[in-house]
Amino acid sequence: MKTSLLQVEGLTVRFGGLTALSNLDFKLGEGDLLGLIGPNGSGKTTCFNAITGLYKKNSGSVLLRNKEITHSSPQNIYRNGITRTFQRLRLAIGLSVFDNLVIGDAMHLNTSIYFNVFRRSNLRADIKNRLEQAEEILAFFNPKLIDNIYQPIGKLSMIDRRRIEVCRALISKPSVLLLDEPSAGMTHEETRDFMTDLMEIKIKTPKLGVILIEHEMNVIERVTDRCIVLSYGKKIAEGDYRDVSTNKDVRAAYLGED
Ligand SMILES: Nc1ncnc2c1ncn2[C@@H]1O[C@H](COP(=O)(O)OP(=O)(O)O)[C@@H](O)[C@H]1O
Ligand SMILES: [Mg+2]
Repeated sequence: MKTSLLQVEGLTVRFGGLTALSNLDFKLGEGDLLGLIGPNGSGKTTCFNAITGLYKKNSGSVLLRNKEITHSSPQNIYRNGITRTFQRLRLAIGLSVFDNLVIGDAMHLNTSIYFNVFRRSNLRADIKNRLEQAEEILAFFNPKLIDNIYQPIGKLSMIDRRRIEVCRALISKPSVLLLDEPSAGMTHEETRDFMTDLMEIKIKTPKLGVILIEHEMNVIERVTDRCIVLSYGKKIAEGDYRDVSTNKDVRAAYLGED
């Protein structure tokens, strides 16, 4: 039996009269790569926002390594080991790769008074540490990225921006990584290369649990071990790609969209 990382039970999120996520249950174990699929508006991003504490849950619970984090703050959830990327990139375009990596992590630390009063003398050491950390994570993800460490994000290709966003999510050494449509805005070729990198990450960090939201079904087929299908906020199927892709409810949900 695999060690449980994430356990979601009865998760429900409503916006006024709309139930964006309805009584969702699933588990993620160490090393799992779980696909989260479903038509537009079916609740995939809402699921990530609820798990990471950005959205309030109307009911249900989220456990990380059997510890309840349902009502924890986004900062605490981040510190406890769940990180994510966003469907629309959230990088500061004018800032360098290094700045973006550092800001991503520092954003989650409560630096103000503590930093100013007690740690100013350590600033130089802190920057050096962070540079080492940034180089380490870039090398880990894809060594070619290090050459661009002082380049502004705006100068990078879409795939490299996505890679940097993943590096930023990995810098805190999370146990759960949530990827929200990383292939959005990438060509087929870039998507293929990106997924190859992702598979490398999985090999190098075999315990990392990943949930991937993705609309390209061939990607889901190639990289996931299991997937969950949402339709109107409800889970309508779960299983390996072959099972869910032939499931009649799933076909109906997708046909309805087209
Ligand atoms: N902050 C919000 N306020 C109001 N409605 C929202 C909000 N976030 C998402 N929704 C609604 O919840 C539903 C699910 O959205 P979302 O989770 O973004 O879908 P997906 O990521 O599967 O495309 C949609 O109907 C969307 O309009
Ligand atoms: Mg979405």
